[in-house]
Amino acid sequence: MAPVKNGQVILNEVPKAGIIPGQTTVYREENLDIDATPLNGGFLVKTLTFSIDPVIFGRMKGPPPFGYTLGGPINNLGGGRVLRSEHPSFKVGDLVTGMMNFEEYVVVPAAQASMFETVDSSISLSARMGAAGLSGKTAYYGWKAYAPPSSKGNVCFVSSGAGAVGSIVIQLAKRDGYKVIASAGTDEKVSTMKDLGADVAFNYKTTATKDVLAKEGLINVYWDNVGGATLEAAIDAAAPRAHFIECGMLSGYLGESYHIKNLFMTIPKEVQLHGFIAVGWMEENWGREFRETMPKLIASGEIKYKEELIKGLDKAAEAVTAQLEGKNVGKPVLIVADE
Ligand SMILES: NC(=O)c1ccc[n+]([C@@H]2O[C@H](COP(=O)([O-])OP(=O)(O)OC[C@H]3O[C@@H](n4cnc5c(N)ncnc54)[C@H](OP(=O)(O)O)[C@@H]3O)[C@@H](O)[C@H]2O)c1
Repeated sequence: MAPVKNGQVILNEVPKAGIIPGQTTVYREENLDIDATPLNGGFLVKTLTFSIDPVIFGRMKGPPPFGYTLGGPINNLGGGRVLRSEHPSFKVGDLVTGMMNFEEYVVVPAAQASMFETVDSSISLSARMGAAGLSGKTAYYGWKAYAPPSSKGNVCFVSSGAGAVGSIVIQLAKRDGYKVIASAGTDEKVSTMKDLGADVAFNYKTTATKDVLAKEGLINVYWDNVGGATLEAAIDAAAPRAHFIECGMLSGYLGESYHIKNLFMTIPKEVQLHGFIAVGWMEENWGREFRETMPKLIASGEIKYKEELIKGLDKAAEAVTAQLEGKNVGKPVLIVADE
């Protein structure tokens, strides 16, 4: 077969504030002979989807191994179809997910094959990027690890509740019997959070978070996606020995960091702050359970998800920026090819 076009997204410049598409990252095309390119015991994947996550921006700023290599392709969770294989665990036609370079065709080296998994088509590949992917795992692992089983009347507050992670957290909390308060930045997102089961949903841009929390009761669990002033309001509203699940601090990713003025109150209230990263020991503890339960709950409709599909590998930088700016409802997924 004649060489095919292989588009790639390259980190061209370390971003200072936000991402400037075409400057921070560049989209370039090379030719690739997909029949002849050496596999060296690995396998060749035709990319179909990529998960879009805030961490992509963080990794543009940091040096390797956490950060991306300047001048090299960015990477993240992706999914695709195996076109050629020299690896015993993967065969031609398999649908796979794993950490992939932002390229149309990816050669997975044998040494990285163990970080890939074969998936079935009981749910869409895009769902495997979000609710059944990194976002769902983050929600599931953090919730399992740190949210106490609810006794009647326990209250959970979720920030960025219409986002990829927050929308799953709302549902896990409801399944465990919590009263759920959820915040997001548009009225459309407020409706989405209500549809997902939130008992109280509000737009933090038009209603003060502290007023809602003061009215709706002390909170036993705060799922923190945003940090900043919202975290400060949550500390004021924390019940004694509340659990704060520190998932992310979105409010500071594009701007200045916020000085939390009442952090001291976590001491007399004995607030338990749990920072976590949804890999490593969490994957070892709940990875199998997640893979066995979440796709089924999604397929049956018991766990709902919203997603935004963005077409074209060349739109990767715009998709990450749109998420950081709050333009997404649910999970942003980049569609590279239909098949
Ligand atoms: N610990 C881990 O292992 C792990 C893994 C994955 C993700 N995370 C973290 O989890 C959090 C959620 O990630 P996600 O993928 O689900 O993102 P997301 O919530 O889908 O998207 C980002 C949202 O953040 C909100 N936002 C932006 N600026 C804000 C601000 N100043 N104040 C309040 N909200 C703001 C926007 O919604 P609004 O319209 O509501 O403002 C935007 O839609 C992030 O902090 C991410 O870094 C952690």
